[in-house]
Amino acid sequence: MYFCLNKAIKIMEIKEKIEGLRKELHQHNYNYYVLNNPTISDQEFDRKLRELQDLEEKYPQYADPNSPTRRVGSDINKNFTQVPHKYPMLSLSNTYSEGEISDFYDRVKKFLNEDFEICCEMKYDGSSISLTYIDGKLVKAVTRGDGVVGDDVTDNVKTIRTIPLVLQGAGYPEEFEIRGEILMPWKVFEELNREREANEEPLFANPRNAASGTLKLQDSTVVAKRGLDAFFYSLLGDNLPAEGHYENLQAAASWGFKVPDTIRKCQTLDEVIGFINFWDVERKNLPVATDGVVLKVNSLIQQRNLGYTAKSPRWAIAYKYQPEKALTRLNEVTYQVGRIGTVTPVANLDPVQLSGTVVKRASLHNADIIEKLDLHIGDMVYVEKGGEIIPKITGVDTKARFMIGEKVKFISRCPECGTPLVRYEGEAAHYCPNETACPPQIKGKIEHFISRRAMNIEGLGPETIDMFYRLDLIRNAADLYELKAEQISGLERMGEKSADNILKGVEQSKKIPYERVVYALGIRFVGETIAKKLARAFSGIQELAEATSEQLVNVDEIGERIAQSVKFYFSSPKNRELIERLKAAGVQMERTAEEMEEASDLLQGKSIVISGLFKHYSRDEYKLMIEKHGGKNVGSISSKTSFILAGENMGPAKLEKAEKLGIQILNEEEFLKLISPE
Ligand code: IVH
Repeated sequence: MYFCLNKAIKIMEIKEKIEGLRKELHQHNYNYYVLNNPTISDQEFDRKLRELQDLEEKYPQYADPNSPTRRVGSDINKNFTQVPHKYPMLSLSNTYSEGEISDFYDRVKKFLNEDFEICCEMKYDGSSISLTYIDGKLVKAVTRGDGVVGDDVTDNVKTIRTIPLVLQGAGYPEEFEIRGEILMPWKVFEELNREREANEEPLFANPRNAASGTLKLQDSTVVAKRGLDAFFYSLLGDNLPAEGHYENLQAAASWGFKVPDTIRKCQTLDEVIGFINFWDVERKNLPVATDGVVLKVNSLIQQRNLGYTAKSPRWAIAYKYQPEKALTRLNEVTYQVGRIGTVTPVANLDPVQLSGTVVKRASLHNADIIEKLDLHIGDMVYVEKGGEIIPKITGVDTKARFMIGEKVKFISRCPECGTPLVRYEGEAAHYCPNETACPPQIKGKIEHFISRRAMNIEGLGPETIDMFYRLDLIRNAADLYELKAEQISGLERMGEKSADNILKGVEQSKKIPYERVVYALGIRFVGETIAKKLARAFSGIQELAEATSEQLVNVDEIGERIAQSVKFYFSSPKNRELIERLKAAGVQMERTAEEMEEASDLLQGKSIVISGLFKHYSRDEYKLMIEKHGGKNVGSISSKTSFILAGENMGPAKLEKAEKLGIQILNEEEFLKLISPE
């Protein structure tokens, strides 16, 4: 009896502890991300989060889909479900002219025939989202889609720290929708593109594409790392707290939503125009992309009276800023060759002033774009920065064509080594296939090899690589390990100390773990994450080199394209020789005993679905175990599923599907026994 009572008290305490931690962590998230005013250290936050994670794992009966622990995302693949919008997501009528703003104002004035206020807001340039909250909890996040039906992206949206999972304050309706824009701040966008450039992955053209692309990623753990943000601009539902749009947004801010402090209520047309002009200049200092201003009649009653046309509300209008453009002459098109051979056309222009910088060069992206522009040398071209960081050519002033120059034709041979270019099916880019003898590819590969996230060889940089290359000291990464002090000290700007640093850096790199070596090799499409997956699935370079396409695609996240690229890399005798030399030099070409700890091929070739809540280990830990033992964790049940690792509360739909397909279900204990049979 006492025992039961004690146990019951303990359980109550645990529940309270979990709830207390959740509340506290929600508040810290809000302080940090929305208010920019943290009150505890990052370490302290992480410690509390870990404590909560541990408790939630131990006591799955208290699981909560809105716990702060859910912000890290889950790697379950999801094909998004389509959800109808309760209120259609309409668009706004747009204008670029002040005159039309004045017409809008007069129309509203005439129609209402009474005083009214206009709420002026920035037009954020991201991806629109509609969130539903019930009883103060986020239950659904849906993209705009076609305005009537959108994609359910709830799991991805939950990883955005500025979006409250549980509301604070009081006075929110039992059920309501809030709409806003998911944004990728400029800084995050620039960093993401820098990373993609280093990996020769296609760049995002602007933060809007980056935000909407991220929102549609299948793996929400990747979304969690992408640094998305969200601003909110409209509240919908019955029993809203106020009769004014501005006032409702202020209430939303008090519940924890990020409502920009740029919004203003204006009483006259002059004030509205003042707002537009002020932000035309000032918006360049905002952390996110904006492309205009939205004007809304503030009173909800007046909004209702004004009503809607078929596509947009009569009570609102968007004024779009002109993207900054400049007209200049195209003098030449040159071509750059990247580390993996991508050939990028670059327009060389008469220098022209644009958004505060002098532009001399602009990207032309690929052959299709050149063709579409019907570009000729000497053409007067429009250069725009718009939302983009890299200026681009958006048009040609054909009327200014005087004595037409030569039509720009994409080159057919590599400008560096003369090799005929290739274009792979389904890709817009051209490549130089001469991987091992084309100078920028050789230098680029070595630069990638030594880079911080790869072998991290300090003391070496692009200029030194270029000099060593010119002096015929290096032709590939393995040559670095044969450099001698007497060869390099005394070279241009190279004292004994610098030479010594380089050799020390090279020596140190022999300790870099195998998974980073796989990344450093610079295999096309093998970025850091994929390299890790490959290194875990094939614990030595020999195994990786001999892996069949089937074995490769069996590894989580590796598809045909990557498998083909890996096979292609190892099919080259030159690459195999490079690896042999690196190995002989002492570079890690295998996982160490510690890294391999307990690895086996007990689950080789098996596709395993993880479902439910677990007691002994977290879902991520089970996923790692599956990979370590050669298996593949897949998102959804199909006839190809080998078995399901099921914790508690496995969804009824999944259970039914598993039973229908006759798929075995293992509980945690059975699974753990399976991978440690002794
Ligand atoms: S109000 C009935 N306010 O612009 C229209 N929209 O064409 C309700 N947008 O896709 C929209 N900033 O995602 C509104 N301050 C703002 C906005 C905004 C950006 C986007 C919105 C929508 C598009 C409207």
